Amino acid sequence: MTDIKELLLSRIRDVQDYPEPGVLFKDITPLLADPAAFTALTDTLAERCVAAGATKVVGLEARGFILGAPVAVRAGLGFIPVRKAGKLPGATLAQAYDLEYGSAEIEVHAEDLTAEDRVMIVDDVLATGGTAEAAVHLVRRAGAEVAGVSVLMELGFLPGRERLEPALEGAPLDALLVV
Ligand code: PRP
Ligand code: MG
Repeated sequence: MTDIKELLLSRIRDVQDYPEPGVLFKDITPLLADPAAFTALTDTLAERCVAAGATKVVGLEARGFILGAPVAVRAGLGFIPVRKAGKLPGATLAQAYDLEYGSAEIEVHAEDLTAEDRVMIVDDVLATGGTAEAAVHLVRRAGAEVAGVSVLMELGFLPGRERLEPALEGAPLDALLVV
């Protein structure tokens, strides 16, 4: 494992039985509070955006905002928020997706993406892949191309990658850490 990956891993805190019994929550707040780790993460993801030829960074509410916004600034790209339904004031495109129990919906301002855009989707965690898959569909429906999905960590014991890769149609899914 590289020094950067070891640093990032060391700043992710395991919280047992949160938000409910039996769940091991991966808490990134120690990483965010450490400027060396947060900068290393931001720089690494920004390099991937540039290497992928991205023109925009899409961050997924809420933790994808915390990571994606500095990545966009570092890469010299615009930042587009994909929000949970009902939070954006303009004309939106919406995409529903299934949760373990029930469903959720995310939205983007339709005017924020165009056919000229190549979009890197950034989030903290890939778990079941449902959120990222919905974001991929949203970006395409807005007329833009998906440059890839970049996450800090992939939960390797869940089939998120298997779910997401068909939707990506060859675009890369990049996880800095598999936990
Ligand atoms: C969490 C996490 C990812 C998503 C991954 O977001 O930040 O966005 O779940 O899960 P999935 O791969 O199964 O879709 P969540 O909406 O729970 O919380 P947040 O608002 O704090 O980001
Ligand atoms: Mg999230």
